[in-house]
Amino acid sequence: KKLAIIGMPMDLGQRRRGVDMGPSAIRYAGVNERLKKLFDEVLDYGDIPIGRPEVEVDPESNLRNLHLIAEKTELLSKEVDKAIESASFPLVLGGDHSIAIGTLAGVAKHYENLGVIWYDAHGDLNTAETSPTGNIHGMPLAVSLGMGHPLLTNVGGYEPKIKAENIVIIGARSLDEGERELIKEKGIKVYTMHEIDRIGMTKVMEESIAYLKERTDGVHLSLDLDGLDPHDAPGVGTPVNGGISYRESHLAMEMLAESQIITSAEFVEVNPILDDKNKTATVAVALMGSLFGEKLL
Ligand code: ARG
Ligand code: MN
Ligand code: MN
Ligand code: MN
Repeated sequence: KKLAIIGMPMDLGQRRRGVDMGPSAIRYAGVNERLKKLFDEVLDYGDIPIGRPEVEVDPESNLRNLHLIAEKTELLSKEVDKAIESASFPLVLGGDHSIAIGTLAGVAKHYENLGVIWYDAHGDLNTAETSPTGNIHGMPLAVSLGMGHPLLTNVGGYEPKIKAENIVIIGARSLDEGERELIKEKGIKVYTMHEIDRIGMTKVMEESIAYLKERTDGVHLSLDLDGLDPHDAPGVGTPVNGGISYRESHLAMEMLAESQIITSAEFVEVNPILDDKNKTATVAVALMGSLFGEKLL
């Protein structure tokens, strides 16, 4: 078993600087060393070159940094594709959540029916029309469904990447009006904090795994650290109170490891500038340990 680590130091999908240092923070927290014990080989592909582009503001489109994000996510999709072609499990380190546009573009063409677990406080299902902010990190799941600006939906040269019925959102507690409508219209499966409180993480994961197992041939885990409670993961740009706990998150990762359904993953929105002594990157690495099969005993 081989792992390919790909850094995506991009902060263009939102307005708070610092999330471009996410890959460095996660590397500093010891990702390579930790995962070396769980794979035969860990290959670090390094970081996608993002540079220091000037912010692109186009008040008309309500899509901040549209061209830059399309261009940079295209680069990421190629690296992710390369990892899969060489039989490695791709693990992408973000970067804000807009990077998922590139990750999914690189992953989805290798599957007939790719499943996605979107572990997040948010739905990231906005389009230019529904977004209250114009920030593309609030749009990648919609983009992957083929909804949004063609420059984004066509990253990787094809669309759509995924089907609505192959998505499970876990941890939602901040959804915009347009996102709620889209969830209902498309029948997207969502476990909000209400369900997690009510039936517990064990049941939520059992149901999610069973649901995805019967309809998909691979599952991508897109884990936004703001899915966790800000007490456990303070270093994120858009924190929302009342989130998933550290323990519940480990349980979720352990159950995913046991199920063996996950075929690619990304950990996003780690912002060391907003963090408390690299706590959030450290949590991310610990969760990766559980996801890839670390056991307590
Ligand atoms: N829904 C809000 C927006 O569209 C917040 C999105 C936050 N997304 C994230 N990946 N943290 O701007
Ligand atoms: Mn390929
Ligand atoms: Mn997100
Ligand atoms: Mn989020």
